[in-house]
Amino acid sequence: MSIVYRETEKTFTLHTRNSSYQMKVDEQGRLLHTYYGSKSDSSDLSYLIAYGDRGFSGNPHELGRVNRRYSLDTLPQEYSCFGTGDYRVSALRVQNADGSQAASLVYSGFAIEEGKYGLPGLPAVYDNGGEADTLRVTLVDQANGLQVDLLYGVFEAADIITRAVLITNQGAADVVLQKAASLNLDWQAGQFDLISFHGRHAMERNFQKSRLSHGVASIGSVRGASSHHHNPFAILCEPGTGETRGSSYGFAFVYSGEFLLESEKDQMDQTRLVLGIHPDNFSWTLAAGEIFTTPEAVMTFSDGGWGGVSRNFHAILRHNVCRGEWKDKRRPVLINNWEGTYFDFDGDKLAAIAQDAAELGVELFVMDDGWFGKRDDDNSGLGDWYPNETKLGCTLKELGEKITGLGMQFGIWFEPECISEDSDLYRAHPDWAVQIPGRPPVLSRNQLILDFSRADVQDYLIERLSAVLASAPVSYVKWDFNRSISDKFSQALPAGRQGEMAHRFVLGLYRVLESLLQKFPHILFEGCSGGGGRFDAGMLYYTPQIWTSDNTDAIERLQIQYGTSFAYPVSAMGAHVSAVPNHQTGRVTSLATRAAVAMAGTFGYELDINLMTAAEKREVRMQIERFKELYELIQRGNYYRLASPLEGSCTVWQMAAVDRSAALVTAVYHHVEANPRPVYVKLQGLEAEADYKLSLLSSSEEGREELGTVSGLALMRGGWRIPEAGGDYWALQILAERLD
Ligand code: GLA
Repeated sequence: MSIVYRETEKTFTLHTRNSSYQMKVDEQGRLLHTYYGSKSDSSDLSYLIAYGDRGFSGNPHELGRVNRRYSLDTLPQEYSCFGTGDYRVSALRVQNADGSQAASLVYSGFAIEEGKYGLPGLPAVYDNGGEADTLRVTLVDQANGLQVDLLYGVFEAADIITRAVLITNQGAADVVLQKAASLNLDWQAGQFDLISFHGRHAMERNFQKSRLSHGVASIGSVRGASSHHHNPFAILCEPGTGETRGSSYGFAFVYSGEFLLESEKDQMDQTRLVLGIHPDNFSWTLAAGEIFTTPEAVMTFSDGGWGGVSRNFHAILRHNVCRGEWKDKRRPVLINNWEGTYFDFDGDKLAAIAQDAAELGVELFVMDDGWFGKRDDDNSGLGDWYPNETKLGCTLKELGEKITGLGMQFGIWFEPECISEDSDLYRAHPDWAVQIPGRPPVLSRNQLILDFSRADVQDYLIERLSAVLASAPVSYVKWDFNRSISDKFSQALPAGRQGEMAHRFVLGLYRVLESLLQKFPHILFEGCSGGGGRFDAGMLYYTPQIWTSDNTDAIERLQIQYGTSFAYPVSAMGAHVSAVPNHQTGRVTSLATRAAVAMAGTFGYELDINLMTAAEKREVRMQIERFKELYELIQRGNYYRLASPLEGSCTVWQMAAVDRSAALVTAVYHHVEANPRPVYVKLQGLEAEADYKLSLLSSSEEGREELGTVSGLALMRGGWRIPEAGGDYWALQILAERLD
């Protein structure tokens, strides 16, 4: 059992393959956190806790006269509370019926269960059978009657611990939750760097590392979605940690709405991390008997550097978060018409693109924005999910059948959570749009938000989208969301509950997605939000792949995909080859480079293939064949970042088969140098004892050039020298195959 409870010491120790985590009920009944890090035994580690009389750090009343060395302001806690003597950032803040803002929790019991707890209505990591155990520790606030159940899911082999919190009002009066974090983690010692991933539209998930110093550092979103601007994922690591060495903790939030991740280094140089729903747009009235369930947070620890953290997350997201038929099925190579045509298309134009694409081996044609309502630009039509047969020149069914008749699958784009003022839906239901009475709402891309916190809006969308999906042979849906939410207000909620709107919106989104998944289990859903504005573990529970960025420039993608790869697997990252000059940057890169970069994702094309020359089409055919041939290695292999796009001249990454039989190394020169310094990388994940045959994959007739045979150990210890660049933005793929 991965969970050990010792009655005499009242310790709970959670063990994964390479980590241990411990908490302890102390003599005062407080649940203290004693350890998280490299694997230890179940020894009581509370001897590490320093007690001292710290001025201005008060003592619980029952101890104040006898023990001034006991203060919640300095003790490491499992779930901290605001208002009762802990002045650090806290996990729980409530407003009681008398208006006071105070909570104080003491231990009341525990339960250990086989299997993993679930969270109704919320995405959560799941157990495929025998992979996880659950610990539930119950705390109570005797003054207001709140019961707080801390849930821990321990995935021993995967080195993952999940956390969520259930808050039940066992009292008689309403309690308003003002902050209810999913995770609180205290370290008594250590210096940390915080690595987070900031961005903007078309430039998501830029790597940023900063030293935690005294005070509070935070990242978060109040945009209604997890956002382009900060990803709900972060790493805390000891200074000096790199890809292959150093102690690192990774934290991901399984939630697609507003979040806050705060870290605070306190007066005693202790560090606290709190992660949960952003409290700025949150308050939740909990009436007697009601339960509030927080979203889930996922943690991992690795003493093998950032790479270890990343691979733990890749595995858990692929095996225990993504679901359904498409979880393990090979995803189709697709072509999307967005950058090929934008809004300017009809059915014949789309069919012509599909025809050429089918001949080259593309398996799925995706019709993007512009097929419905009055939608020839982005000023109108959102909400009117009825095919525009005049524009298409046929019904959706006829178009779908034309595409499937080519031997391809057919996919369509939706943006269900938005509404244009110039739409029949808005004219019929202006109250369904998110806006505050008496204040003109902020427009973004000239559109408004549909109030997904309302059950009637959710029901309408389920019905309308289902009707479209049932009317034609649709096997893929791109689910987009193209603005941030402002003016948060729901006409269906009373004044005192407007603080619930942002979270109810996300719950509504999850409900709609879940019911469509249940009705259409064969459809592959791809998430999107102006590219990667909602790229999070919550969405991956519904959509196993997400469009990574509206930036399709191969060189900019190196950075975007690099940052994304810290948490998210290749199988989740939508990546397409687009036309040059690139539409976002004007940069020209070769077709080979664009394909090499897109192959570090789900792989597809997004251009008007009818405009390609015969030679380019031959190359596309070969790229698709190569991707299909290497699919298992690319999508299911272990992923290693060998050289960063933020340094040097060349970005290098590697996928290694789990059974170590092969590896693919991809190198892209992002900045070519005169008199170039050689680029060396050390491969990882190979079999030390075996020999590997190395080949340079090329677009020549032969398709590959032999580079020699080298042992796995030599490739991992000595490494490999990447061939010199043949020009700027030059890409190469090297395949290493084990000789058995
Ligand atoms: C967003 C998406 C694009 C495309 C457009 C359509 O920006 O990220 O891929 O679908 O919307 O309007």
